[in-house]
Amino acid sequence: METKIKQFRRYTVTSALPYANGPIHIGHLAGVYVPADIYVRYLRLKGEEVVFIGGSDEHGVPITIKARQQGISPQEVVDKYHNIIKESFEEFGISFDIYSRTSAPIHHQTASDFFKTLYDKGVFIEQSSHQYYDEEAGQFLADRYITGTCPHCSFEKAYGDQCERCGTSLSPLDLINPRSALSGNTPVLRETKHWYLPLDQAEPWLRHWILEEHKDDWKTNVYGQCKSWIDQGLQPRAVTRDLDWGVKVPLPGTEGKVLYVWFDAPIGYISATREWAEARGTDWQPWWKSADTKMVHFIGKDNIVFHCIIFPFMLRSEGSYILPDNVPANEFLNLENDKISTSRNWAVWLHEYLHDFPGRQDVLRYVLTANAPETKDSDFTWKDFQARNNSELLAIYGNFVNRTLVLTQKYFGGVVPQPGDLTDSDKELLETMKAFPERIGQSIENYRFREALSELMNLARAGNKYLTENEPWKLFKTDPERVQTILYVSLQVVARLMLLSEPFLPFSAAKLSGMIRLKLNTWQDAMADELLPAGHQLGEPGYLFEKIEDSAIEAQVNKLLETRKANEAQATPAAKPQKDTVSYDDFARMDIRTATIEHAEAVPKAKKLLKLTVNTGIDRRTIVSGIAEHYNPEEIIGKKVVMLVNLAPREIRGIMSQGMILMAENNEGKLCFVSPAEDFHPGSEVK
Ligand code: MF3
Ligand code: ZN
Repeated sequence: METKIKQFRRYTVTSALPYANGPIHIGHLAGVYVPADIYVRYLRLKGEEVVFIGGSDEHGVPITIKARQQGISPQEVVDKYHNIIKESFEEFGISFDIYSRTSAPIHHQTASDFFKTLYDKGVFIEQSSHQYYDEEAGQFLADRYITGTCPHCSFEKAYGDQCERCGTSLSPLDLINPRSALSGNTPVLRETKHWYLPLDQAEPWLRHWILEEHKDDWKTNVYGQCKSWIDQGLQPRAVTRDLDWGVKVPLPGTEGKVLYVWFDAPIGYISATREWAEARGTDWQPWWKSADTKMVHFIGKDNIVFHCIIFPFMLRSEGSYILPDNVPANEFLNLENDKISTSRNWAVWLHEYLHDFPGRQDVLRYVLTANAPETKDSDFTWKDFQARNNSELLAIYGNFVNRTLVLTQKYFGGVVPQPGDLTDSDKELLETMKAFPERIGQSIENYRFREALSELMNLARAGNKYLTENEPWKLFKTDPERVQTILYVSLQVVARLMLLSEPFLPFSAAKLSGMIRLKLNTWQDAMADELLPAGHQLGEPGYLFEKIEDSAIEAQVNKLLETRKANEAQATPAAKPQKDTVSYDDFARMDIRTATIEHAEAVPKAKKLLKLTVNTGIDRRTIVSGIAEHYNPEEIIGKKVVMLVNLAPREIRGIMSQGMILMAENNEGKLCFVSPAEDFHPGSEVK
């Protein structure tokens, strides 16, 4: 990737609007919000004009399903989560200029107008089709209201819009054995009218705009996904739904229809920009319509098609909007080697982290950046979290800053000392130091945040190494002047770290700013020779980072273990308790053999019973077995089974039954045969 030589006057930076049906977790943070926040904080330090947009995505079927499950209204669901999300973002230092929501009136207006404009321009295809309808519930079944078997991977709980096992995007009609999520019934097909975006017409333009123009500056994971969508052939996409929660379709005679959530949600970026601009009494339009505005969408990889293909197509069809300059989507973050999952509660939730680790926002920001899923999925582990805090933030960055400030306090009363003649080692550090702002800035501008952060740490490392090599604490008695120089040089590095770390570690940067009594200025300042002049009075030294103890990590790991146990308990129902002990002799008296079912037939007037002829190896005999509700006679002929042959014969319905076939029974009362794992001849002993 290379930076384009194009001059921009302002930046519109958006971050995916999270669904307001659950709190924020580390996957969201690592994928979207932390990198977006680093990017905008950097741009602001550079003195650029930026608006950073966020907000809650409050429409869509899952929200209505959640509301139904909890017996509350969709609005109550989104009110609850919108507030949790908004507060946790604020506390975590995600520096949105506005955090809005798509249930806001200004959004309904904006989305509705946008649809109307495309409608009036004749962009949509209007089409009637047959869609699933739940007769008992009296409603059409959009997307996630319908489940069934995935035609690609046979997953039985695929949704009408997507299979969560194999990731294929589906349409409800693709599902095998469809079921309504409302009633569990098999739905019927009914005719309904919808409006479609003719994405098929977009192909030549998309090939040019993405595959050629952005070949070199979009991330390879993003580019690759776009290419594969385009190569597969794009189909028209419905942008309306039969649903009563969302932005109403602004056309007469369309009661009960709303805009598809993925049509209205990205327009939420525009609505939020309007809301922000109106509150400041300025014009929102340059942020979306001027060619000298750079627009960047931060998203996760599951949002790529919407932000790279569908939304740009909408913007272009409208006609007056600019297109995104880049869409730096990240891959996914896993947690302790397992996919993060809201429904399995397999996540580290932001609001819980903030509660459990008060004042430690920067540690999480650091870990999520150092280990960001930028080019491939990555894994968050609590051990790694601890190690990165203790042996990187604390041992490198914190240690360097602390040693410098404490020594300056001790030897010079916290006043920046006057340097003497500079040695080669001093000059070298002062020189290297000046290259960092440019280098870190370049990485950030190319959306390589891991690399940027590792450069920042290299500066701290260089400072640490310098102190260790020069050992000012050993020299003070004999050569205080040399110590003056060493600390002067170190302090210049400390001040630079403070500036350059602000996008990544804003809380620590602010703390450090207080400790050295230097206000955060602009990124360019970090290129100056001297940031802390001799004679400058520093503040009180303190700790930027604290050690994270094993106990804190164990508590988190245990919390996850509890979750795993709870999930497993749900997946595997509890087995019945064990029966009383028997002696080996008791067991040995039972003669258990392998056998083959040779004939099977129903027992008249007994709907549970089958009459079987089995070859026991000893003889052929008749057995009456209570398996008729689980097996048809035809399907069990030839079956190898295990049976108790010396059970006292017993007359059942006038038939003498000589023995018992062993069956396993699950908690729901379902039966299955216990068969020899290999093809053993009848009569083999089981013991
Ligand atoms: N709510 C979506 C998700 O969490 C993201 C929406 S991004 C937007 O996957 F732009 F469309 F709002
Ligand atoms: Zn599938």
